[in-house]
Formats: sequence, C-alpha cells, structure tokens
Amino acid sequence: MKALCWHGTNDIRCDSVPDPKIEDPRDVVIKVTSCAICGSDLHLMDGLMPTMKSGDILGHEFMGEVVETGSRHHKFKKGDRIIVPFNINCGECRQCKLGNYSVCQRSNRNAELAAAQFGFTTAGLFGYSHLTGGYSGGQAEYVRVPMADVGPMKAPEGMSDEELLFLTDIFPTGYQAAEQCDLKGGEIVAIWGCGPVGLFAIQSAKVLGAERIIAIETEPDRIMMARRAGATDIIDFKQEDVYERILEISRGEGADAVIDCVGMEASAAHGQAGLMSALKEHLLPVERSYALDQAIRAVRPCGVVSVPGVYGGPLTINMGQIVQKGLTLRSGQTHVKRYLELLTKLIQERKVDTTFLITDRSNDLEDGPALYKKFKEKRDGCVKVVFHPT
Ligand SMILES: NC(=O)c1ccc[n+]([C@@H]2O[C@H](COP(=O)([O-])OP(=O)(O)OC[C@H]3O[C@@H](n4cnc5c(N)ncnc54)[C@H](O)[C@@H]3O)[C@@H](O)[C@H]2O)c1
Ligand SMILES: [Zn+2]
Ligand SMILES: [Zn+2]
Repeated sequence: MKALCWHGTNDIRCDSVPDPKIEDPRDVVIKVTSCAICGSDLHLMDGLMPTMKSGDILGHEFMGEVVETGSRHHKFKKGDRIIVPFNINCGECRQCKLGNYSVCQRSNRNAELAAAQFGFTTAGLFGYSHLTGGYSGGQAEYVRVPMADVGPMKAPEGMSDEELLFLTDIFPTGYQAAEQCDLKGGEIVAIWGCGPVGLFAIQSAKVLGAERIIAIETEPDRIMMARRAGATDIIDFKQEDVYERILEISRGEGADAVIDCVGMEASAAHGQAGLMSALKEHLLPVERSYALDQAIRAVRPCGVVSVPGVYGGPLTINMGQIVQKGLTLRSGQTHVKRYLELLTKLIQERKVDTTFLITDRSNDLEDGPALYKKFKEKRDGCVKVVFHPT
C-alpha cells in the first residue's frame, strides 16, 4: 500500500509499504477513506519530536471502513465506517476510567521512554514517534487500529467523511481548550493562532458563551476564516502590540481567559523580532514560547490560561506572573473520546461548521510531500489538507 513516511527533518515521502495485519485479538484494520495533516505533524517534520525513525508512517487524523477484525473484537464488523481518535485507549486503566483518555497508562508500548521524558507516560498515539508507542499512522491506504473496541466510534448515518473527520482531533482539541476556560457567558477570550485548532477554539468559545473573541494571527486567509468562525476582534501579531490591544479591548483589565493554539513553533511578534528570535526560528529550530508568554501577560488576574498548543520539553515561562496574578494553567493532549457524542450533535445541529477550513484535497498520497510543504509554509492560503486515499 501507499503511505506517507518520515525520513528525517523536512523529508517526508510517499512510500510503498506492506499492508498492516491484525496483531492482537482486539484490533481492527481499516481502509482509510479520509485522513488529514495536522499542525502537530509539523513538529515531526521540523525534527522537534525525538525518537522518530526513518520509515515511520505518519498521520493521526483518519477514518475509514473496517476490512478485518481480530478474533476477540466484537464492537465493529467488516464494512462499518468508523472514526478513530488520535489517542489509543485501553479502557481499563484508572485514567481511562476517569475519562482522562489522553493519559491512558496502558496503551503506550514504549511507556518507559515517555515516562523518562515526561514523568508519566502519555497514551499511545498514532503516527507520532516511538515516545508515544511507535504505532503506524493513518496517512496511508490501510491502518491497524489497536484496542479498537474502546476509542473509535461508528460514523452516524447520513454524515459525510468531511463533516466527521475532524472529530478525530482538532475539533475536540479546540473544544477542550475552550471548555478549560470555564466560561459562564459574557467573557472576553483571547486566542493565539488561527490554524485549524484555533478556528475550532473560536467556534467552541462562541458556543460556550464568550461575548468577545479576540483572534491573534498574521496570515490573511486565516484571519478571514477566524472572522467567519466568530472572532469579534482581530490582532495581527506582526503589526500591532498584542498586549496593548488586549488591554484596550478589555478596558485595562486583560482577557478573562486566553488560549495558546500555537505551541512550540511560535513566530516572534511585533517588537520581538530581534537577532535571537531569527536565529531560533530559522537557524537552530528550538521550542519557542512567544505566544504562551504573551498569553500569560495578557490574561486578567485570576484568569485561565488554556494551552492546547503542544510543547515537548522544558521551557522557561514566567511563573512569577502565574503565581502573583493567581492564574489557572490548564493544558494537555485532548481526551478525544470524552467529546465524540457531544460534538457530533453540535455538527448535526449546525452549531459548528467542520468543513469550511478545508483548503486542499487530494485523492492520491503521492501528493503528500508537496502538500506537507505547502501546509508548513502556509502557501496559497493552505489551512487544512485532507486526503481521500481509497
Ligand atoms: N493538545 C492536543 O491534543 C493537540 C491536538 C492537535 C493539535 N495540537 C497543537 O495545536 C497547535 C496548533 O495546531 P494547528 O493545526 O492549528 O497548527 P498550525 O501550525 O496550522 O497553526 C498555528 C498558527 O499559529 C500562528 N502563529 C504563529 N506564531 C504566532 C504568534 N506568536 N501569535 C499568534 N499566532 C501565531 C501561525 O500563523 C499559524 O496560523 C500545534 O501546536 C499542535 O501541535 C494539540
Ligand atoms: Zn493532530
Ligand atoms: Zn487506559
């Protein structure tokens, strides 16, 4: 079969690889009907995620049709259309029982590696390095889904792949990010980054009652989409002083809640673009906390800082501000399974639009390497790439 494989920093290829097989009685194998490239895949492309190996199959946003089931798998049958969350869940450990699916303690086959890096292990993730289990991803024609009796959900009748696909990651991620802000109605929420995650965070903040939604971005097409998603105010972080504008909008108080939908590849903002920033961004790519730093500064006392943006290792942040302002910091990989039913309803009730951000489609994974590059460079308005490989 064809699959998109990692071969090193900025080296993604469409390879011919063996078809996956059932390895455990709980598995299913699916034929991938739709899959997408995520901003998180850029951390792999940029070489910022350790333990990738040449030939690893990428992709953690995918859905498709069951073509094979393991001997002890009873949830789905051949021909079922299923949506697969990006995190793998055992369904039996204490964290799974608590609904904290992104920190399942049993699905990561390389738990000791993750524990050495993070203290405790994360769940196993599809196509996301050996630190998270070394599972093959779904930017492929077929994929093995381990522990398939827990996480995945059957696609509701009458809904298209493109309506449902983002339930596997970015819609729940944007929703969890907004939910973590504990909105009661009427708040000012500021959101850094209007990539796919930011666009879903904007829509979710609106559904959850935010009155003013400030979107911080610099790419014109993404700014347009942010408006369409429901942002009431836009700040171009390359042109304006983000902190001053947020103070102005919030009558000098700061935003009630702030959401970092950028993560470790943040670009320097207006006034920060010195030599050090340029070096960090272009010559020696390292984790950069520009967006998070601004967010912590621009939130009001006792506000919430919600961080769906991904960071991989130790980072210097202003703990003094967090303590002295009495901030609540909430973060994490998304507990996708927790949100599947609720968010499916929001799509069906047309409260959230999951399709408008798709800018690039392809029926051939051979286009993958070029589309990865286009997405990374945000060229020609590229916001979200979807493949229909089979
Ligand atoms: N927590 C989770 O489970 C989870 C799931 C999916 C994605 N993510 C993470 O969410 C983040 C966003 O994902 P995405 O797919 O939207 O990525 P993306 O790369 O498409 O979007 C990031 C956006 O941030 C903007 N940006 C860069 N620097 C900025 C700054 N200083 N201020 C404001 N905006 C800035 C960029 O222009 C870009 O539009 C990534 O870090 C990704 O890994 C987390
Ligand atoms: Zn993702
Ligand atoms: Zn578990």
